[in-house]
Amino acid sequence: MIEISKLGFSYDKQQAPIISGLDLTIREGEWLTVLGRNGSGKSTLARLLNGLLLPSAGQVCVDGLTTLEPDQLWRVREKVAFVFQNPENQFIATSVEDDIAFGPENLGYPREEIIQRVERALELMNLQPIRSKAPHLLSGGEKQRVAIAGALAMASRYLVLDEPTSMLDPQMRRAVLESLHFLHRELGMAIIYITNIMEEALLAERIIVLDQGRIAREGTPVEIFADQQWLLSMGLDLPQISRLSGMLDQAGYHQFAGIVDFQQLLETILCAK
Ligand SMILES: Nc1ncnc2c1ncn2[C@@H]1O[C@H](COP(=O)(O)OP(=O)(O)OP(=O)(O)O)[C@@H](O)[C@H]1O
Ligand SMILES: [Mg+2]
Repeated sequence: MIEISKLGFSYDKQQAPIISGLDLTIREGEWLTVLGRNGSGKSTLARLLNGLLLPSAGQVCVDGLTTLEPDQLWRVREKVAFVFQNPENQFIATSVEDDIAFGPENLGYPREEIIQRVERALELMNLQPIRSKAPHLLSGGEKQRVAIAGALAMASRYLVLDEPTSMLDPQMRRAVLESLHFLHRELGMAIIYITNIMEEALLAERIIVLDQGRIAREGTPVEIFADQQWLLSMGLDLPQISRLSGMLDQAGYHQFAGIVDFQQLLETILCAK
């Protein structure tokens, strides 16, 4: 469990805090999506989760370990891994497998364990065929899968992803999302997923919407996407399916109100016939 209490953060002490008074509990194995307009503090919050940034107030505790204590921080990093938006910025080594090994090497694991972790991550992300390739020669989707594999080789409980698909074409986006679903479903990893793509937000079990460094609202996708005016006022878009169910509702077909699932939409159409 990640327990965030009264969290505050500022990059510059002279200026208003970027995150303030934020309380949030992230459960083991859940898929939590973080939404919010540009500048609302999503990336800052993500970096606070594994101690890339340290709180100015309050604290972040991961399975009882606080990021504020240097001797606990490295254990937090064994649990919480981070994948950035742009995979280009995160490669260090000259081959995929060496790159994946870099994180566990840095955490000081013995050689045998490093090999095991790298092999497992290569297998999970289906990267064996390209294990010897240079990361900069890969496609965007492959790069992002290498970045996720690198994160997996380091940490095993929580994966924080900051707009990981925003640079990918639809096919690569699907491949990355399928990989994440596998980790979530089969390995029970918690996924903390920052996105501004509303179709992706529908995949969440729970959504938080950030506004000016605070949680403006929290709920399931059905709850969050029910209030379309409010979402627009938060600078967010609507998923296509919400747009359609909203239009049908307004046209007098109230049975469609709030539908965010294609199967449910189809069943409601078939019932209406
Ligand atoms: N390194 C930094 N130094 C100073 N201010 C920063 C820094 N990084 C971010 N900020 C400021 O903090 C605020 C929140 O930024 P953050 O990157 O967390 O937002 P975000 O919700 O991730 O936005 P986006 O949707 O554009 O990625 C912004 O006002 C931004 O200008
Ligand atoms: Mg951001």
